[in-house]
Amino acid sequence: MVGRSVITLDDLSIPQITDLIRKATYIDSHRKDVAHTCDGRVLATLFYEPSTRTRLSFETAMLRLGGKVIGFAGAQLASVTKGESIADTLKTVSNYVDVVAIRHPKEGAALVASRAASVPVVNAGDGGHMHPTQTLADLATLQSRFGRVTDLTIGLCGDLTFGRTVHSLIETLCRFGNVRFVLISPDELRTPQYVLDRIDATPSCSYVEVRDLVSVIGDLDALYMTRVQKERFFNEDDYLRLRDTYILDESKLALARPEMAVLHPLPRVNEIAVEVDDDPRAAYFEQVKNGMLMRMALMSSVIGDDLPGYVPLEPK
Ligand code: CP
Repeated sequence: MVGRSVITLDDLSIPQITDLIRKATYIDSHRKDVAHTCDGRVLATLFYEPSTRTRLSFETAMLRLGGKVIGFAGAQLASVTKGESIADTLKTVSNYVDVVAIRHPKEGAALVASRAASVPVVNAGDGGHMHPTQTLADLATLQSRFGRVTDLTIGLCGDLTFGRTVHSLIETLCRFGNVRFVLISPDELRTPQYVLDRIDATPSCSYVEVRDLVSVIGDLDALYMTRVQKERFFNEDDYLRLRDTYILDESKLALARPEMAVLHPLPRVNEIAVEVDDDPRAAYFEQVKNGMLMRMALMSSVIGDDLPGYVPLEPK
């Protein structure tokens, strides 16, 4: 994994992903031991699109490993406003840092960045395409809730068209295999065909597409709620019509299994009522913590800095 860019999780093998989840668990219980793992290293966070969790967790992850952070949040602060290309930005920043995390509104921007960079680039979300480190957080959360990420029935609900976290998660779970997907969305926000094709191509996985959450919630091991993303709509009227299609509240949760886990990549708007936060099934703030731990595991791995005391499953 050393020196590797991560644009989608297809860039990592299943044993490598499994080892990252294990590594994150180790980091959580050995925080002092790992506090100097990345001494002398520098992370650049290049965020051309808003973020709270992803940017701050990348930055906290590097700081907690002993490294330092540079970067920008908002392209208006960088020379992109003078017309600089992503490639030139990455060729420049590669001279300053050991690893880059980039978020960009355009699909494919992280791949372009990785081809120009001479250090590992991690995709922190490229348009409606992929968000691999969110998927790592999601997998770690499923693993901690169920002790596995396979043999589960997982409902994904909301904006399945533009939801890059949904696309990343489905594609990766298909690689693990043995997952039943219940895809819950209005017709206008259905899962893209290329993602459905990926499920179809996986004999041990299956999906159904439904519009109604209430009729299926009782069948689910996990429910992955998503926000209808205003910033990806071309038409404000469509956004206003669709934004409150699904609202998970206590009355709906009462129909779910006692051990079901509710996940959400956050930020939420109205799609999960605040009253759900106190329910033991709410796992979305655990996901936030797991996101930081998984980014610590990933960055130390691609930089090539060993965690003191950690015995890996996989060779580097
Ligand atoms: N989950 C996620 O990507 O959140 P942010 O947009 O706040 O980074």
